[in-house]
Amino acid sequence: MAAKRIQSIAVMTGGGDCPGLNAVIRAVVKTAINKYRLNVWGVRDGYLGLIENRMERLAYNDVSNILTVGGTILGTSNTANPFRFAVQSGPRMQYKDVSDRCVRVLAEGGIDALICIGGDGTMATAAEFAKKGLTVMGVPKTIDNDLYGTDVTFGFHTAVTTATEAIDKVHTTASSHHRIMIVEVMGRYAGWIALYAGVAGGADVILIPEIPYEPQAICDYVLERSRRGKRFSIVVAAEGARAKDGQMVVSKRIAGSPDPIRLGGIGPVLADQIAECTGLECRAVILGHVQRGGTPTPYDRTLATNFGHTAIELLMKGQKDHLVVLKDGRLSSIPLRRVAGRIKTVPHNHEMIRAARAVNTSFGI
Ligand code: F6P
Repeated sequence: MAAKRIQSIAVMTGGGDCPGLNAVIRAVVKTAINKYRLNVWGVRDGYLGLIENRMERLAYNDVSNILTVGGTILGTSNTANPFRFAVQSGPRMQYKDVSDRCVRVLAEGGIDALICIGGDGTMATAAEFAKKGLTVMGVPKTIDNDLYGTDVTFGFHTAVTTATEAIDKVHTTASSHHRIMIVEVMGRYAGWIALYAGVAGGADVILIPEIPYEPQAICDYVLERSRRGKRFSIVVAAEGARAKDGQMVVSKRIAGSPDPIRLGGIGPVLADQIAECTGLECRAVILGHVQRGGTPTPYDRTLATNFGHTAIELLMKGQKDHLVVLKDGRLSSIPLRRVAGRIKTVPHNHEMIRAARAVNTSFGI
């Protein structure tokens, strides 16, 4: 039997926001209306809007003037998983599978396909919906750049730019005060932002989750620089960095969230450790959500536009349950089931690590 022709689609943004989400929404909506005359619906606040049936029609003009705007006009949520939806019951949290409700909401709205713009959590849920018979298409988002299957996610380039600008600014104050400055960037399980911003900003030490560090090695390195007359050092640490015999620094736990752990605070921990073992003055700066804001860079705008357009083209060609990816410089797609539950970490032999080592950057080991 021939696949049903797609006439109506819904689009949603899930997980943490990132620069370029609006550029994808714009490309999806404009391509769908302009080229294929589809009906387009926007789901509010990620999967939460699906659970609560909060959708609205999107017209061509609704996506005008949003290409350069950070955030998402649809809103997002990183705490709602329809297959394990947290409901407060007295003092306790109960988890319910409300995925059938979401399928019903889409069916009743006459929606033939759902475009899910998100990271690993959003794609894992999209893959579950695909198993239930929904036609879904994923678009890879996250500043962390850790989504499996794609060389790059949109948002990453902007976050690296923001982090690099911050490192550049920290550099001058570090040098004026002869201090060790630690810049903590985002990156829970993958250190892509720390690696790229660290290299771009000329960090002396880069700490990433993939390479657990030895505090003494950092201190030795900084003291050696000091002996050579370099009276300041810049350490860039991913929030998920941890010592060889230590744990990640958890700042809070969000009850009911699919991934309840929120990191943050490795910077001040390192500042204390390095101050103690070197006797040098240390300060820490946590960049946090600043990295998720702002206008997307031209690279992210173009990548996001390509991803959004490709998502519609693939759907109209009859493809479903795939993630649009950029692989070896080419736009293509891979099945969502291959993405679910995996993340793309930095390989120890990555060319950027080799380049950083070649210019004498320490990874704290
Ligand atoms: O996944 C993107 C990300 O920005 C991570 O780098 C960070 O750990 C997390 O989201 C923060 O989440 P929240 O917005 O809930 O604080």
